[in-house]
Amino acid sequence: MVVLVTGSTGFLGRRVVQELLKHDHQVRCLVHTPGRERIFAPRSVDVQYGAVTDPDALASACRGVDTIIHLVAIILQRGSATFDSINRQGTANVVAAAKAAGTVKELVQVSAIGATSNRRYPYLYSKWQAEQAVIESGLPHTILRPSLIFGQGDEFINALASLVRLFPVVPVIGTGRNRFQPIQVEDVARCIVLALGRDDLKGKTVEIGGPEQLSYNEIMALLADTLEKRRLRFHVPSLLVWPNVMLMQKFLPKPPLNTEELRMLSIRNVAELDTVEEVFGFKPRPVAGNIDFIKSIGSKDAWKTLLGFMPSSMRDH
Ligand SMILES: NC(=O)c1ccc[n+]([C@@H]2O[C@H](COP(=O)([O-])OP(=O)(O)OC[C@H]3O[C@@H](n4cnc5c(N)ncnc54)[C@H](OP(=O)(O)O)[C@@H]3O)[C@@H](O)[C@H]2O)c1
Repeated sequence: MVVLVTGSTGFLGRRVVQELLKHDHQVRCLVHTPGRERIFAPRSVDVQYGAVTDPDALASACRGVDTIIHLVAIILQRGSATFDSINRQGTANVVAAAKAAGTVKELVQVSAIGATSNRRYPYLYSKWQAEQAVIESGLPHTILRPSLIFGQGDEFINALASLVRLFPVVPVIGTGRNRFQPIQVEDVARCIVLALGRDDLKGKTVEIGGPEQLSYNEIMALLADTLEKRRLRFHVPSLLVWPNVMLMQKFLPKPPLNTEELRMLSIRNVAELDTVEEVFGFKPRPVAGNIDFIKSIGSKDAWKTLLGFMPSSMRDH
């Protein structure tokens, strides 16, 4: 069985590829930036270079493929790479290429908790539009909507941990009471691969999260415990943060926070607590005890992260 993974070199994609290889699947990777395939062992995967905006590249990538795992999405718009061109149209292009190939029997679409038809949340709206493209395609599909994903190389936990590393008093945007259900990146990859071939999941949308629902305040406290720091928190109204985040987004290559993440801080970001166990048959890992990677963040790395230049030792893409 040939499985095409789009977004294969990303934070989640590389784990999905490893999980597929563990299960002896034949893997084809759509690689956006040539050279990034070097993260995979030589000859372990078949590589197709290209963008989801390029129908010809997608046609080649889909040739002879049985299954597609579609992961490509952006959360930060830059130039012509917009939510509409990548998240919505890119997905429509993947779906069209999959149908034209004539061999694709299933597609797993990775969406996000909170995907919505409400245009006031542009990223989540584009994720909802992508879901619609998949649903309307008529292809047998499963949609997975993860909550916040954490693990080595993530952006969110590393940025918060950088604050905790550097400052005795750390800012919390808003009340900090909104809940998340962080799920470990390897566990998300496991769910995706376990979804393959499951006829009972066809046509379904499954929301997945970790084993606990944590508020932003609790996540901050966990990070401080992991780093063995005592930290006080002060609350900053979201309205005051907006102008700074917009400026960072405009000028920094990798802003520690962007406007879409800021929007998501105030909306529901949780699934049912037992979905992963019920649907996929394993217990997802909690945040506590599984974020030791933040211990290696030095002060210099933390400053770089907060100034929008997260070092490649923390996230290499
Ligand atoms: N991370 C989370 O907390 C989270 C939570 C819920 C849902 N999700 C969803 O999970 C999926 C994967 O997210 P991620 O965190 O792994 O993202 P990521 O680390 O940013 O990876 C995105 C991948 O897509 C590729 N890509 C970007 N633009 C492309 C284009 N125009 N054509 C082809 N490939 C392109 C990137 O390649 P280059 O780097 O070479 O451009 C990279 O391999 C997304 O659909 C996201 O919405 C993520």
